[in-house]
Amino acid sequence: MVNDVEPILRPGRHGLVAMVRASSGDDGEHELARALAALHPREQQLALTLAPLRKAEWILGRTALRQALRGQDLACDLPLLRDDRGAPSVPTTAAASLSHKGRWAAALAAPRQAARSIGVDLEHAAPSRYDISARVLTDRELRQLESLDERARGLAVTLRFSAKEAVYKAIDPWLRRYVGFREVEVELDAQGEGRAHAVDPRLASELAGCTLELTWAQVEEHWLCTALVERR
Ligand SMILES: CC(C)(COP(=O)(O)OP(=O)(O)OC[C@H]1O[C@@H](n2cnc3c(N)ncnc32)[C@H](O)[C@@H]1OP(=O)(O)O)[C@@H](O)C(=O)NCCC(=O)NCCS
Repeated sequence: MVNDVEPILRPGRHGLVAMVRASSGDDGEHELARALAALHPREQQLALTLAPLRKAEWILGRTALRQALRGQDLACDLPLLRDDRGAPSVPTTAAASLSHKGRWAAALAAPRQAARSIGVDLEHAAPSRYDISARVLTDRELRQLESLDERARGLAVTLRFSAKEAVYKAIDPWLRRYVGFREVEVELDAQGEGRAHAVDPRLASELAGCTLELTWAQVEEHWLCTALVERR
């Protein structure tokens, strides 16, 4: 499906999201082989050094990234490798981020603006197997979810996990340091939008003068979150 079917394209507040997926089984292996052949030779070279699952993620991620850049008229012939922090390297005219989950990948791309940075994340829209809430949520966020039943709470936790990973990908290019999940709080509304703010004092001072905006949606069986950090 990666090459044979158009990607899912979702224009949004933070840029264009392109989502691709591979089928399971032998069909999926053929799709991945064709998608690999369509990558830049240096992306192919890197793919061939990776273990099978990671290789599939890499192929899907780079395929989605090229689709998102193309959809924003930012296509380029350069290899889209990774920078020293692990973020995707893209042309200087572009801002981009990507995520993969299983046989799916999503990439977000937008024209580069110096005061803006973006992030995207994809997670299963399902409660996680183990309760990760105490690691991911602040005490205030935990209290906000107290009244939900077990399944709704589990879904709300994985959604917030995804939103925070999108935030991390947006802020890391500026901060260039690990930021813990409990250093940030997110507020998500029912219309698919939201905001994030720093609760950790060091992070709050690093992000002084910045706004952190979020979008979220359920796309088939996944949460899709995007984040925009903007320095005013
Ligand atoms: C880096 C991290 C966010 C990746 O998330 P993940 O769920 O493991 O994996 P995803 O598939 O969603 O994303 C992987 C992609 O993120 C991108 N990425 C990796 N490091 C990155 C960074 N420092 N900045 C921006 N993007 C990064 C890469 O494109 C990578 O895919 P690729 O290697 O195939 O190119 C995660 O591993 C991590 O370290 N999180 C801890 C910090 C955090 O999220 N804090 C939240 C509070 S702000």
